[in-house]
Amino acid sequence: MTNYIRFTVASLTLALAGWCTQAAAGADTTRIEKGRYLATVADCAACHTAKGGKPFAGGRGIASPVGTIYSTNITPDPRTGIGGYTLADFDRALRRGIAKDGTTLYPAMPYVSYSKVTPQDVQALYAYFMHAVAPVEQANKAEGIRWPLSMRWPLRFWRMAFAPRPVQASADDNMDGNANTSEPASDDPVLRGRYLVEGLAHCGTCHTPRGFALQEKALSDTTKTYLSGAVVDGYLAKNLRGDPKNGLGTWSADDIAAFLKRGRSDDAAAFGGMAEVVAHSTQYMSDADLAAIAAYLKSLSPLDPNGDALMADDTAATALRSGADRSNGALTFVDNCAACHRTSGAGYDDTFPKLARSSVVNSDNAASLIRIVLLGSEMPSTQAAPTHYAMPGFAARLTDRDIADVLTFVRASWGNHAPAVKAADVAKARAAAHAAPPPRRAENE
Ligand code: HEC
Ligand code: HEC
Ligand code: HEC
Repeated sequence: MTNYIRFTVASLTLALAGWCTQAAAGADTTRIEKGRYLATVADCAACHTAKGGKPFAGGRGIASPVGTIYSTNITPDPRTGIGGYTLADFDRALRRGIAKDGTTLYPAMPYVSYSKVTPQDVQALYAYFMHAVAPVEQANKAEGIRWPLSMRWPLRFWRMAFAPRPVQASADDNMDGNANTSEPASDDPVLRGRYLVEGLAHCGTCHTPRGFALQEKALSDTTKTYLSGAVVDGYLAKNLRGDPKNGLGTWSADDIAAFLKRGRSDDAAAFGGMAEVVAHSTQYMSDADLAAIAAYLKSLSPLDPNGDALMADDTAATALRSGADRSNGALTFVDNCAACHRTSGAGYDDTFPKLARSSVVNSDNAASLIRIVLLGSEMPSTQAAPTHYAMPGFAARLTDRDIADVLTFVRASWGNHAPAVKAADVAKARAAAHAAPPPRRAENE
């Protein structure tokens, strides 16, 4: 009897122990999988994976006004990566921009946004990087920044001036507590959307204009500069606020979510830096998170409270079809653009974006338009919309004057209303993009 009891207790203990480790492993797997998802939302790979390089091994050059900054190896390799980082070290780098050796990171690492991330999400990211990312031995590259800007100590002052401190300073404090951050305690999708947009998804890194010291002018919707548009790598990461003309005022929440998931909507398609954001990050977000982001963006008031919606106008389409408009802009459009974007500027749903009353076309700053016409572009292929279409580049075919004229025409037709484009601006963009002009006509210019 006693033996039987002992036996049962022993097997029960064993069974219980087994169950406990399984449960613990289950919790870890859940945490690791959560971390994997969050790393995609945060798009860590965008910067930490070099083109053709091993995942997260760093070495990707990020252009900055002071020179090229190379991302570092964040695989768990103990010697060249972050294998030796404790959770507290990892947290300090991620949310405060301080490396393990105490130096301050360049703000090319978006720790200013990540400061909003909850401790729980930091823990999940840490679990993922430590346990599910393959270690890669690859030494970090030296920064391509010249002295005196290469000195790191001024970065500390930058950080103190511009980086918000996470309310909960370090992972050593109760990481499970519910301190810090903008993460909502409720299920309100707008609050969840705000948490993602301001924090992990760091949309403001590209979409918020920068100030004199290259700091983002606002890190949340405290002023209307937040997400009101900025030029990144020659493209305008445009206004995402409620403006009907050049923001997202005429987009429904569903349009926004579809764009982020599919890389296109009926009327628009992602290009420039946004194509990569969609390809590597937003297309993999859950529908609930996409709906939350869309709901939050729809809550942003317009930058210009007096801005009117654009009214449809078919004067230009009629003139193009009858051949009445003989201007260089109209003729260039008919010869080079109308096959895809149509004389009505309506494009084809889901295939060739609409130019009529498009928020991209009607942004004051024409950087994106000039660049896409010079270089062409290919929309991202996504799980939800694998077939993707391309636009050819016209740098070798159209002169600076032709491009300025055709864009000025586009920006004044079909109800569009945006400033004319100058040939001098095209020339500057062409030089920056190293795009040679058309051979013959260039001599006459
Ligand atoms: C927009 C680009 C960008 C994104 C996105 C980004 N990083 Fe970074 N990260 C950098 C750069 C650049 C550095 C190096 C900065 C320096 O050398 O001062 C860096 C440095 C780091 C460091 C410090 C490593 C060290 O060697 O001390 C860690 C840790 C890190 N990143 C983790 C992450 C994680 C985790 C994510 C996603 C949640 C992420 N980063 C997303 C650009 C980025
Ligand atoms: C690496 C820079 C970068 C980041 C980060 C970024 N964007 Fe963009 N975004 C752009 C650029 C450039 C454009 C303009 C090209 C285009 O319309 O696709 C753009 C365009 C958009 C558009 C299309 C607007 C229109 O009127 O056509 C939406 C919507 C958008 N971004 C939402 C977001 C959201 C939400 C985030 C954060 C999850 C985000 N972006 C993060 C660069 C970025
Ligand atoms: C072969 C078809 C084709 C031709 C010809 C063409 N485009 Fe495009 N255009 C596209 C496609 C496809 C996109 C989407 C590219 C992307 O998202 O990367 C696009 C995007 C654009 C956009 C960005 C619109 C938005 O809201 O996303 C503008 C502006 C534009 N084209 C203007 C022009 C002009 C001006 C011309 C003539 C000089 C022209 N296109 C010729 C296919 C074409």
